[in-house]
Amino acid sequence: MNTPINPRIRIFDTTLRDGEQSPGCSMTPPQKLVMARALAELGVDVIETGFPASSQSDRDAIALIAAEVRAPTLAVLSRCLPGDIETSVKSLEAAAKPRLHVFLSTSPLHREHKLRMTKEQILESVHRHVSLARSYIDDVEFSAEDATRTELDFLTEVTQVAIAAGATTINLPDTVGFTTPEEIRNMFAHVIANAAGSDRAIFSAHCHNDLGLAVANSLAAIEGGARQVEGSINGIGERAGNCAIEEIVMALKVRNAFYNLDTGIETRRIVATSQLLQRLVGMPVQRNKAIVGANAFAHESGIHQHGMLRNRNTYEIMRPQDVGWPDTQMVLGRHSGRAAVEARLRALGYWLEEEELKLVFEQFKALCEQQRVVTDADLQSLMQDASGSDGYRLASMTISDVGSRANALVELSDPEGHRISETAQGDGPVDALFAALASATGVQLVLDSYHVHSVGIGADARGEANLSVRHDGEAYEGTGTSRDIIEASALAWLDVANRLLRQRDHHRKEAFATA
Ligand code: KIV
Ligand code: ZN
Repeated sequence: MNTPINPRIRIFDTTLRDGEQSPGCSMTPPQKLVMARALAELGVDVIETGFPASSQSDRDAIALIAAEVRAPTLAVLSRCLPGDIETSVKSLEAAAKPRLHVFLSTSPLHREHKLRMTKEQILESVHRHVSLARSYIDDVEFSAEDATRTELDFLTEVTQVAIAAGATTINLPDTVGFTTPEEIRNMFAHVIANAAGSDRAIFSAHCHNDLGLAVANSLAAIEGGARQVEGSINGIGERAGNCAIEEIVMALKVRNAFYNLDTGIETRRIVATSQLLQRLVGMPVQRNKAIVGANAFAHESGIHQHGMLRNRNTYEIMRPQDVGWPDTQMVLGRHSGRAAVEARLRALGYWLEEEELKLVFEQFKALCEQQRVVTDADLQSLMQDASGSDGYRLASMTISDVGSRANALVELSDPEGHRISETAQGDGPVDALFAALASATGVQLVLDSYHVHSVGIGADARGEANLSVRHDGEAYEGTGTSRDIIEASALAWLDVANRLLRQRDHHRKEAFATA
């Protein structure tokens, strides 16, 4: 790709408009506000908040969002109708950075069968309505609906008219997901090269996924000169959906040496944002969905696990932590080899002698005959059976408020099976809990990050807590799962502490053996 003139790709999120209008994805105004906050945290440049003329619910959602979400530009959609534009302007009254998004179809099929308008009427309508929008708000986007099935020369003419009328962004959508990468690259390059005034506008791609090409087509549009990409979280949207934001953003990041283009996205927030949307609309993504699917960073085959253990670049093109997952998941199952089981045991703090490992591996294989996946908890119980002890166990915990602070009482059984209890105060329940666990175990952990998210759906939903901590300058990750998120947090903390204690015992034994 040539050296880009403008090295920044703007991310225009339409989860709340195009995404929300797809079957099974509707959200209430308060749900849209929650999602808009998350999108702002994620760092999207524009949030398309709705289509004000379409419903009172859309207008309510836009008002809620505009009153609170200040950093991103807030766009709303309007047809080329004065009434739509006026309703949109009203709905954006409280917005810090408002954008009017006006659209009209341009393809022969839509002109003839949907609009019953001639080319001249289309040009006149674009001029009139973009001018009207611009008379209210300086930031105006015009979309030529079904652009990819429009005659190139006419599309160029429409673009020219829209820019002359004041449009600052020109969107050329692949409304029906029909185009191919080469075709859309040429379309953008042609329009940008031939429409007078194109240097005064940002060109935008809005690709639907009917042929599974939305991300590939958006990347090709960028190669043709687009500097804004429209999409949605998890790719939700009309029919097969829109370009998935998490995928396009990571494609640009992972292949930065080729594209040489950045986005303003805080990629570590991607998984949390995706999971929030899955919960809000009740639509989980498939396990093998790129970036945010449960298997996106899971390796089960023995050959892959072996390669990963030697050098993770063998089978991993990005770090799971870069998109907000805790760490690569080596899924242990019947395809896994001894090296992977040994590595997982070591990560859990168990260093085994050759003979011990052989025995445990046999037990592991036997377990694989009964269940598809062997979890960390399964391995820990195998080890507990072998050694009779497995570190500190949580017996009970009580959290209470003391003024503006919280008090935690934890009761643990120690590795020898004795009961111990400790209390501590903190700035909140989790802070107090971790302080009590630290006094009970004598392990000091510095917390780097802490996330709680739900796993499973409906009656099976549980909270999973993931911690990134440091101990003596080394980084560790801990996970805990429970129906209660505070208990899940305690289990995640103990997961790390027990591993450290086993590690310490192992080093002591080693030092003793070599002394
Ligand atoms: O797909 C499309 O063409 C649209 C426009 C309204 C931008 O969603
Ligand atoms: Zn669309």
